[in-house]
Amino acid sequence: MKKSVLLFLTIMFINIQAQTESIPLLKDVFKDKFYIGNAPSDYIIKGNDQKALEILAEQHNSITAENVMKWESVHPQPGKYNFEAADRFIEFGLKNDMYIIGHTLVWHSQTPRWVFQDANGNPETREGLIAKMEEHITTVMSRYKGKVKAWDVVNEAFNEDGTLRSSPWQKIIGDDFIKIAFQIANKVDADAKLIYNDYNLCFKAKREGCIKYIKSLLDEGVKIDAIGEQGHWDMVSPKNEEIVCFFEDVKKIGLKAMITELDINVLPNPWNFTGADVSVNFAARPDANPYTEGLPDSVETKHAEKYAEVFSIFLEYQDILDRVTFWGVHDGHSWKNNFPVRGRTDYPLLFDRQYQPKKAFYSIIDLVK
Ligand code: GLA
Repeated sequence: MKKSVLLFLTIMFINIQAQTESIPLLKDVFKDKFYIGNAPSDYIIKGNDQKALEILAEQHNSITAENVMKWESVHPQPGKYNFEAADRFIEFGLKNDMYIIGHTLVWHSQTPRWVFQDANGNPETREGLIAKMEEHITTVMSRYKGKVKAWDVVNEAFNEDGTLRSSPWQKIIGDDFIKIAFQIANKVDADAKLIYNDYNLCFKAKREGCIKYIKSLLDEGVKIDAIGEQGHWDMVSPKNEEIVCFFEDVKKIGLKAMITELDINVLPNPWNFTGADVSVNFAARPDANPYTEGLPDSVETKHAEKYAEVFSIFLEYQDILDRVTFWGVHDGHSWKNNFPVRGRTDYPLLFDRQYQPKKAFYSIIDLVK
């Protein structure tokens, strides 16, 4: 080989090495603070996006299943369980020594209709639905006992005004369905951490309703370990003070806090929409999708500033904050590209579509240097 070619190759090799070596690892940087999690799709776990899989394994020490442990995935028909994808997810987590979160046992979405109906298609009775809940929680939790360390037992049970959502769970069983779910979960695995998970808990009315309700269960002796705020946020909402209120209120009732599904949307929000009610879908409009050709530098900088602000708050509350989980590995894969409007180009995560760490990544790393 010619000397010049050899020199060129050596320089390239050193460059590539320097590049990979110079990317810090979130899980190491935040090691003494809280777990850094992510919520991979089955597509990634199966190895269809090798680079995403590498980022997932290298940067994180916790995982939550994006979809594969939801009722419709693991328990699509009465008496029929399908654990193939969930098993794959668990195996990946164990192999990479990760803190594994089960998501989610009781939710009104992504739950088949038959759950809420009896064998004749009529509305299920309270007793019938409690029995189904018990059978489902017992089967799923038992399978992963000792492997899944924490469960989102109930997801999204409150309305924005702090009252209980009139979901099929609430309508059929009654207001005590949350209590019953936590009691069953604790009976199945007394060592697992049990979480109540929801969005928009930074907003006063919803948070106060939720905290009051959870506190009443704690007073009755029900075991609940943590409250998870999903963290599907944007550049202006929630305000930093509102995030602080969430931590303060969780602290007051003596529970741990988790940020369970973090992403920060950069796109315009002409609907003033917040949260993650997956039944919402707005019509596309061009002014709400301005960055199809790339994210302007100034917006990326603002995005990084917002990430730094929220992570400064996370660090302040590290004594009660166990985990921060991102909802997606890189921008190209984020659900925010299709929610609450289909077909947009959003940039809510720390890694871009070329799998490179963004300014937001470095902005949070810089906080702990
Ligand atoms: C909610 C749920 C998640 C997921 C997101 C959208 O936040 O908790 O499981 O479905 O919506 O991806």
